[in-house]
Amino acid sequence: MGLKHIIGGILTYLPRVGKLMAGHTGGTSSARYCYSIWLRHLVMAQSALGEACTWPRVIAEFGPGDSLGIGLAGLLSGAEKYYALDVVEYADISVNLDILDELVTLFAQKEPIPDQQEFPFARPLLPSYEFPHHILTDDRLQKSLSPERIQSIKEALINPSNLKKSPVEIRYIVPWYDSNVIEQESIDMIFSQAVLEHINDLAQTYATLYCWLKRDGFMSHQIDFGCHGLAKQWNGHWAYSDLTWKLIKGRRSYLLNREPYSTHKRLLEQSGFKIVCDAKTSDHSGLTKEQLSSRFRQMSEEDLTTRTAHILAKKNPT
Ligand SMILES: C[S@@+](CC[C@H](N)C(=O)[O-])C[C@H]1O[C@@H](n2cnc3c(N)ncnc32)[C@H](O)[C@@H]1O
Repeated sequence: MGLKHIIGGILTYLPRVGKLMAGHTGGTSSARYCYSIWLRHLVMAQSALGEACTWPRVIAEFGPGDSLGIGLAGLLSGAEKYYALDVVEYADISVNLDILDELVTLFAQKEPIPDQQEFPFARPLLPSYEFPHHILTDDRLQKSLSPERIQSIKEALINPSNLKKSPVEIRYIVPWYDSNVIEQESIDMIFSQAVLEHINDLAQTYATLYCWLKRDGFMSHQIDFGCHGLAKQWNGHWAYSDLTWKLIKGRRSYLLNREPYSTHKRLLEQSGFKIVCDAKTSDHSGLTKEQLSSRFRQMSEEDLTTRTAHILAKKNPT
């Protein structure tokens, strides 16, 4: 019945406890995690979309969490402008600066991509965790890791409003809710890691992302459809009634939208995107359809067993 999770939800109404529970998101407080995730997105994009997509100049991340590290890895790979869009301000300057220093070392040493031994739950899985020399060539890294550029990235973190002819720009927008925070058709790559399962209004969000993306831009999203520890079985969140779920959510501004894979696919297509890659992982160990709440009982076998998906989508396929 999820009693302990319901109690957790009720506790969010107590101001102090609620604040404590909303403290951290997990992954991006580790530079190695950020490095691993950025390179996974880049490698997946290269294999699905080809060379042209591997050097995005303007990037936007949804839900960076504890640090801006994944986007900083994007800047260290050559991007010039990075928008970080969140609804809670988890990241701060000192953590970002520490992560940046560690990332510079990882890129300079061309460290292999940290794999499942180190981050067992990180997705997508890759066929190889070698450093992607074919994408981040020596020539490209020499430019993107120059001391002047690293200094510009530091300055952009410390003083983001000082934009006078800086070669690098960072904008951390929290909360981002207004679609006017980014100019239409201005982004080359929009990405997110373990975020789209949390977004409350998915249809509106996908429509907004469509407007922001350049005509030849692309999106790269890793989505985790699991219960995030809120039930015994990985898909147990689909067994809760709407009322129970409301109690579990409590006062949190977001929790899980509980939408399965097919909802994302439908909304992406309705917004005008073409899905060019959807690397899914399946898990048959969870609840059966009969055990789900009435709202979810009609879901397809594919939805019931799709635990994660890495979705790459283009605005205007060529
Ligand atoms: C599980 S954390 C993932 C953080 C990070 N991407 C990582 O890989 O560790 C989910 C993040 O999504 C953010 N989030 C939730 N709703 C959002 C929304 N509507 N727009 C942007 N970010 C959102 C949360 O604030 C949080 O930073």
